[in-house]
Amino acid sequence: MNNQSHTSNVVNIYDAHPINEGQILEKMKLDGVDLAALTEDILQNYDMDHYDGLAAIDKLAQSAGIEAGSHVLDVASGMGGPARYLAHNYGCQVTGIDLTTSRVEGAQRLTDMSGLSDKVKFQTANALENPYPDQTFDVVIGQEAWCHIPDKPQLIKECVRVTKVGGCLAFTDILERGGLSPEHRDEISQGLGYSKLGTLSDYQVFLEQAGCVVEEVEDLSARWAVILRERLEMYKSLRPQTIEMLGIEAFERWDHVYTLYVDQIEKGHLGGGRFLARRG
Ligand SMILES: C[S@@+](CC[C@H](N)C(=O)[O-])C[C@H]1O[C@@H](n2cnc3c(N)ncnc32)[C@H](O)[C@@H]1O
Repeated sequence: MNNQSHTSNVVNIYDAHPINEGQILEKMKLDGVDLAALTEDILQNYDMDHYDGLAAIDKLAQSAGIEAGSHVLDVASGMGGPARYLAHNYGCQVTGIDLTTSRVEGAQRLTDMSGLSDKVKFQTANALENPYPDQTFDVVIGQEAWCHIPDKPQLIKECVRVTKVGGCLAFTDILERGGLSPEHRDEISQGLGYSKLGTLSDYQVFLEQAGCVVEEVEDLSARWAVILRERLEMYKSLRPQTIEMLGIEAFERWDHVYTLYVDQIEKGHLGGGRFLARRG
């Protein structure tokens, strides 16, 4: 698949993703949330699309030393959950960029509804062509999203370029660990919109080549094998809403590829990692 078709595939997948603005609002209404008085303390239970919930954001924030004066960039920010959580809980300013316009617009509307628009903003952009000037941000974060981005050395280079000297990149991502068959790699890449996945050591090399000192590397694979099984069950529990919003075909396509993905995580062919690197 060339870069152009890969980009369209990713956008199509996220335009039809089971976690979306409509589903987040619907679930809150079903739970009796008063949307006219929505706060981040409530919204944070509905709007995340990474693994290990709020604890995973806290881990990145604390390792990177995010504080009230920080300006953070979330690269591939999705529905904006981590960006709002960081602004609300750490008092920082957060900018999110994402390739998929429907995600950016939805993230902005949820931010407006929760009263955080003075601290959090979103922009449609490809992370490989970051629109911000050199050394704009104190910290760049990313969670379970860089797996979609084809040219990882260029991605890291762009993230480092917009980080201030002495600032940090703190991110988690889905990784290859060996043993994945070419057929399963193709099926998962196509169905979930992944490009060639990095490994724990690939990312360390790319970070060092871009002028960073790698301070922390953590293999999250064992933990993710547990989390991902639960996540598959969560997607299955969204069956009625997903069919109503996106149709049975979309539900079955997602269910099939996600089942294969979780199986490969449990077999140890795929996994996850957390990285903290400082720009020298
Ligand atoms: C799993 S979601 C992100 C979830 C978010 N980090 C969170 O924790 O809620 C992955 C996001 O990556 C975005 N994405 C994929 N390729 C991208 C690229 N080249 N540049 C920017 N965003 C991209 C997708 O549009 C999608 O919104």
